[in-house]
Amino acid sequence: VDLSSYNTFGLAAKAKYFAELKHAEDIAELITWACTKKLSWMVIGGGSNLLLLEDFSGLVIVNQIRGIQVAENDECYIIKAAAGEDWHQFVQWTIEQGMPGLENLALIPGTVGASPVQNIGAYGIELADVCSEVEFYSLQTNSMQILSNKQCEFAYRHSIFKAQLKDQVIISKVTFKLSKSWAAKREYGGLKLLAEDVSAQAVFDEVCKMRISKLPDPKHLGNAGSFFKNPLVSQEHLSSLLSRYPEMPNYQADKGQAKLAAGWLIDKLGLKGFSIGGAAVHQDQALVLVNKANAQAEDFLALCRHIRQQVWQTFDVLLEPEVRFIKDTGEIEPNAVLG
Ligand code: EPU
Repeated sequence: VDLSSYNTFGLAAKAKYFAELKHAEDIAELITWACTKKLSWMVIGGGSNLLLLEDFSGLVIVNQIRGIQVAENDECYIIKAAAGEDWHQFVQWTIEQGMPGLENLALIPGTVGASPVQNIGAYGIELADVCSEVEFYSLQTNSMQILSNKQCEFAYRHSIFKAQLKDQVIISKVTFKLSKSWAAKREYGGLKLLAEDVSAQAVFDEVCKMRISKLPDPKHLGNAGSFFKNPLVSQEHLSSLLSRYPEMPNYQADKGQAKLAAGWLIDKLGLKGFSIGGAAVHQDQALVLVNKANAQAEDFLALCRHIRQQVWQTFDVLLEPEVRFIKDTGEIEPNAVLG
């Protein structure tokens, strides 16, 4: 099966075996089948955070489990959404239903099931702030399991699903707890300009507007959102960088570290629009790499190496990809191919 319509870079890798998963009850059977045949397997949601380096030699499972259930108590709405629901449509639906809280996360490509894996975040909110539980099939116990927010070990673009539980779970459902005493989160960037009593719908609209103005729509220009994570540096490193570049954006992060804007670093090097083969740095947001014209995975690797080298030479910062690198048998550490 050709995977080009299952990854938002539009890379033409193939999967040897392919299944569409519609019901959580079918997970056990699919996994048992793959394990008996000693095949690697991988779950794809929206395919919006993947760099497919070559054909996949095992089973690709596209998660299409659908369904949303809502319960409520005096304090909050408790919404259980199936993993195969489209993230943005789900966010839009909650706003329409008068259940605010997810509006800052509008227009993030992908599915509900993928959202906890890398703890998606934008405009001052992370999934970790709104997710109460994640339900999944565990290959360790061969049964459905639930982890609480705390047990998911969420961190910046990170969770237990990328660490100890990597390749051990198939996420079926995510539970959200949205407080009824909602207040707009408008600390980030352009949202600061909104009035204090702004509605969730207006925040949603503003976030959509900001994203559309900077981030390319994967339907028209293949991309996977931010290609790199925003790097963390020590305060000393930040001070020395600020003495050379006083205008450099920076944010306070945990453990006394500072977070830099990778997009700014790449932009500063004049790399917007720079391309290798069919892969290019996006014109409007340097953190996004795009498939300009029939790019091959090799083009993205070469472009990624070039950017990392330039950023390293100038700023002494090593950029780590945020996008997940997938080879024939599954995910690999980007550094293993980037060198
Ligand atoms: N900047 C530039 N030039 C660029 C890009 C950015 O100068 O080409 C500057 C901006 O002017 C701003 C700063 O860098 O001062 C940060 O840029 P922006 O607000 O666009 O956000 P970002 O740090 O590039 C992060 C997330 C995005 C998320 C936005 C908004 C990561 C890796 N990326 O990007 O998430 O939408 O903040 O919250 O944390 C994603 O993960 O795929 C993603 C798109």
